[in-house]
Amino acid sequence: MSSSFQSSGQVSYELNGDVAVMTVSNAPVNALSHAVRVDLLANIEKFEEDATAKAAIIVGAGKVFIAGADIREFKRPATQPHLPDLIDRIEACSKPVIAAIHGVALGGGLEAALGCHFRVGVKGAKVGLPEVHLGIIPGAGGTQRLPRLVGYEKALEMIPSGAQIGAVDAKAAGILDDVSDENDVLAAGLTFARSVIDNSMPLRRCSELVAPAVDASVFVAAKAAVTKRARGQMSPVVCVEAIEIASKTSFADGMAKEREMFMELKSSDQHRALSHAFFADRALGKLPEIDGIAPRKLDAIGVIGGGTMGAGIATGALMNGLAVTLIERDEDALARAKATIAKNIGGAVKKGKLSAEKEQHILEEALSLSTDYASLGEADLVVEAVFEDIDVKKQVFQQLDKVCKAGAVLATNTSYLDVNAIAAVTNRPEDVIGLHFFSPAHIMRLLEVVVADKTAPDVIATGFQLGKIMRKVAVRAGVCDGFIGNRILATYRAAADAVVVDASSPFEVDDVMLEFGFPMGPYAVADLAGLDIGWATRKRKAPSRDPRERYFTFADRMCEQGWFGQKTSKGYYVYEDGARKGTPNPEVLTILAKERMENDIATQNLSKEQILDRYMAAMVNEAAKVVEEGIALRPLDVDMTLIYGYGFPRWRGGPMQYADQVGLDKILNNIKEYARDDAYFWQPAKLLEELVSTGKTFGDLNAEGGNNSVKKVSEKA
Ligand code: 3HC
Ligand code: NAI
Repeated sequence: MSSSFQSSGQVSYELNGDVAVMTVSNAPVNALSHAVRVDLLANIEKFEEDATAKAAIIVGAGKVFIAGADIREFKRPATQPHLPDLIDRIEACSKPVIAAIHGVALGGGLEAALGCHFRVGVKGAKVGLPEVHLGIIPGAGGTQRLPRLVGYEKALEMIPSGAQIGAVDAKAAGILDDVSDENDVLAAGLTFARSVIDNSMPLRRCSELVAPAVDASVFVAAKAAVTKRARGQMSPVVCVEAIEIASKTSFADGMAKEREMFMELKSSDQHRALSHAFFADRALGKLPEIDGIAPRKLDAIGVIGGGTMGAGIATGALMNGLAVTLIERDEDALARAKATIAKNIGGAVKKGKLSAEKEQHILEEALSLSTDYASLGEADLVVEAVFEDIDVKKQVFQQLDKVCKAGAVLATNTSYLDVNAIAAVTNRPEDVIGLHFFSPAHIMRLLEVVVADKTAPDVIATGFQLGKIMRKVAVRAGVCDGFIGNRILATYRAAADAVVVDASSPFEVDDVMLEFGFPMGPYAVADLAGLDIGWATRKRKAPSRDPRERYFTFADRMCEQGWFGQKTSKGYYVYEDGARKGTPNPEVLTILAKERMENDIATQNLSKEQILDRYMAAMVNEAAKVVEEGIALRPLDVDMTLIYGYGFPRWRGGPMQYADQVGLDKILNNIKEYARDDAYFWQPAKLLEELVSTGKTFGDLNAEGGNNSVKKVSEKA
């Protein structure tokens, strides 16, 4: 291939003795953009003709080798030189080309390295083909070269999972020829190049290797396992198919087929959704109100209440290096909390996530237990996780106000209560914030950072910093009943209840949502969380319930019989002998039939698709209200909340992305149609109506940084 493209200077070419060094400089991650491909191709041609150069090294500037294709270019039509052709050209070189890897070689970056004749890594380097997480497959030879190099089984382990492996494992697998003791990647590359030249090492081209044959059953089993895990996501399954093709065809045919499969997935909704999720993940913490604001110091935290949430929050903080002082009401409660924490930490040790030494340090030194609030005097941040009762919370915050040092962040883990009202009982409302963790708090990734009216920007930044330290996905939320996630949940659960009473059963609704890609249906989730929690909330809200709201009694009838879900072995499902997966409880159907009879409800016929449409319309409509009111800054904040906290399938990108794909006009029409039967519940969000009338999408709002009134909320701070 000849190079007639304009150079951008993003890949330099320098001779170091008889070794040509090509350095890719495309900050921040050396993605293989069009400009980089152009330059790399030109440099390969130059090397081929450079009589002085006996070998070449490709190396990345900055922190990484190459993190893959430039994902932002995927939206545009592919332009030449295409990556697979460039990599073929590298491989076809008549003189040795060596990839010298530090940081990461991912996706197209690893594929480029596989096109080189040798690969050397420094310690700490990682390699992998994570394309599957973007809803695509490796599209520049990864599915054809990797199995030829490492065998089908290893490729089946790595590509459909997108797993990254460290340098030592990569050498054991045969991906790296050497792991260098040098810290400097260029030095490592030069040393390796020297030995290639001095020993006249023959060129090794992955495309020419033959992997040991495996039985066809290996692919059948892999496909079955991957299909089950993928829950509707296509790319992992296509990865298996592409690897299988490598076992059946010539390299050239395999490459053509890989390209075809890659291009098809690249134009799929699933790829669009997963790309959206990739960029949304990175946008969550980019907020005007904390831009350039330093978080406060965070070394030691306090946790009040050592129940389900408090013990989980303490565990997560301790496992991530923070010192924790936990406060309970009495010694017995402290002992219980300590036992829960020790069990959680022990579990992490068993799973190999933590060393026994660290376990000992955590339990003997990093964790302090006390019944005296005065022990919180030195805490940088305190999270309150006591009972969900506004009066109890107010008392706790009054005490915190007295004992905490100036500048300490005072946080509440409340699920629903008014953070402004809690802040108002202190003399420092600017230090008060909501930090809403999810259960089990040391495992669930989501953290809603709930910003109250007076919360100071550096307190918000500290909330995000705590999320980072605890490896959570932090999402900014505003104050309302249930914040982003629980508020939307309450609405789609109400829609589901209506479907159950009018037309269906909890089991069918659960099935529909499982098919959609959720790991559990809403009723199985309710059983897991405990039906008594919802019952208590319904009783609390009964006095303020709007008379126009349809109220269903079946859940109350169930609770009255002591069916609280898994913890009582009975709820919507029956859990025999402590089983975690239940079988449908037939008595629920009897209770439902009675409710229909008492209220003269004639059962309607709804298809699975119609059930799904109602469920999603309720979710999207409430989500639109949440964005409209500024509770979520942007649609993407809702998407990530639902993905990380509520099991929404990532490959669908979250409810707002899903709505864009379905069409906002279709969803709005559905809402208007449902409103004919229940106008109170199905009130269309103004934002949804506005978007439909202007032909815009939630994606457009993301690109604009949120809806305009909302941006003001964030910018005013
Ligand atoms: N293309 C374009 N931009 C990329 C990118 C890529 N492949 N990878 C990362 N970026 C951007 C991020 O969006 C972010 O931009 P921002 O600063 O504007 O938000 C910036 O680079 C830094 O990324 P991170 O915040 O993620 O930085 P980290 O240091 O935490 O992580 C990383 C670095 C491990 C490289 C991580 O970014 C990553 O995993 N990137 C994606 C890797 C990937 O999926 N590669 C496969 C691409 S598809 C492909 O290669 C197809 C081929 O087979 C044909
Ligand atoms: P829990 O009942 O398991 O634990 C509460 C603990 O607080 C008890 O151990 C109790 O002894 C202690 N406590 C009560 N008053 C106290 C005081 N004045 N000083 C010190 N300790 C005190 O409750 P859970 O489930 O842990 O909930 C705690 C908070 O977290 C609530 O606000 C809840 O809404 C919220 N939350 C709960 C979630 C869940 O799934 N359980 C999820 C997210 C938030």
